[in-house]
Amino acid sequence: MDKLVIEGGIPLQGEITISGAKNAALPILCASLLAETPLKLSAVAKLKDVGTTITLLEHMGVQTSRSEDRVVLDASHIHTQEAPYEMVKTMRASILVLGPLLARFGHARVSLPGGCAIGSRPVDLHIKGLQAMGAEIHIEHGYIEAHAIKLKGARYFMDMVTVTGTENLMMAACLADGTTVLENAAKEPEVVDLAECLIKMGARIEGAGTDIITIHGVERLHGCDHQVVCDRIEAGTYMVAAAMTGGCVKLNNARAELLDAVIEKLRDAGVTVESDATSITVKSNGKLKAVNIRTAPHPAFPTDMQAQMMALNTIADGVAKVTETIFENRFMHVQEMQRLGAQIEVEGNTAIVRGVPKLEGATVMATDLRASASLVLAALVASGETIIERIYHLDRGYENLEEKLTALGAKVKRTS
Ligand code: EPZ
Repeated sequence: MDKLVIEGGIPLQGEITISGAKNAALPILCASLLAETPLKLSAVAKLKDVGTTITLLEHMGVQTSRSEDRVVLDASHIHTQEAPYEMVKTMRASILVLGPLLARFGHARVSLPGGCAIGSRPVDLHIKGLQAMGAEIHIEHGYIEAHAIKLKGARYFMDMVTVTGTENLMMAACLADGTTVLENAAKEPEVVDLAECLIKMGARIEGAGTDIITIHGVERLHGCDHQVVCDRIEAGTYMVAAAMTGGCVKLNNARAELLDAVIEKLRDAGVTVESDATSITVKSNGKLKAVNIRTAPHPAFPTDMQAQMMALNTIADGVAKVTETIFENRFMHVQEMQRLGAQIEVEGNTAIVRGVPKLEGATVMATDLRASASLVLAALVASGETIIERIYHLDRGYENLEEKLTALGAKVKRTS
């Protein structure tokens, strides 16, 4: 398995370009199933999860072509509405084909996604929402069997804010008979980007980005041209890297208004953050103040940035409380950071982080996507060499990670 070898202690300098958002690309790729003519996408990052999703869609009969960051998807000849376990088990977001398949074909057989390192991550709200729209759904042999002659518009209150749940139901509602109102909907920018793409495909959607989304069903959807929104979590990760190493980094294709909570916390930590419409610049002298973090749905502090900000707190001046309210097991990075000398105590869903003057390089193991990213950040400031194992987790969500870090002056190399 591949490893990353990182020599710590180098302030990052220079500029890089942020890729298209993984968590917008995945639902938008699945939205191709709703269209009777080709969907043309740009700014689709070359990520493992993107590749997995395209393979799953091709398995169903979607014709695809890819060049650089562009993907064209033609779902005019779908021959199966099944998402098999072998594919779903490697990527939970495969559940995002359920709503589109049911809406367009009236049938879907999707393997239940297993749990994952960060939590059980059930899909009960996806299922209940589709049932509210009239779908007949039962679970057998580990598969979701769903049927609906024609989905009907419904009012549905989601008792937890769920990002992919909101996306699945919004896609399903596009072709339902009548109007659907999703209450307590997720407001993440990736939900908004999906809605903007669906509207260009002919959908009638109001309120994306607020907690009440209204979808008026239409007969059919067509393809469109869509550029995927920039990846705010990738951007946030590099912002923390610049802050921790005491560098000066400019991120192109980054939108500050998608990262208000993260920028606020970096400024509280003593970091300078400036931005214009399409870029963010981060400057730091490496002297950081500890900042308390509490994750919550957008626009509050994103859970996908929790591990990264914990890395910053391990070397900041003071004691920080990091509370994770979204997932029940998203502290897998703690033990690995402790191997680098971090002082962290976990009490339930809160970690107490006492800043230390220096981390020491060591061999650590990646466990999930964002935990892996936080270990890269810690390695960039640890003295000496750090080896990060199982970095396939990183490849799921960070395009050209080594190239981008090397372009900023870091000493990073991938070994098998
Ligand atoms: C999306 O996952 C993201 N993935 C995650 O990013 C992100 O961490 C998460 O939203 C929260 O922001 C994609 O968009 C592909 P949820 P999702 O449904 O939709 C519970 C990354 O690192 N829940 O918003 O699966 C659930 O257990 C990944 O890029 C139910 O109980 O998350 C969790 O506790 C990791 N029943 C909470 O809601 C349901 O039916 C939020 O989950 C659905 C969710």
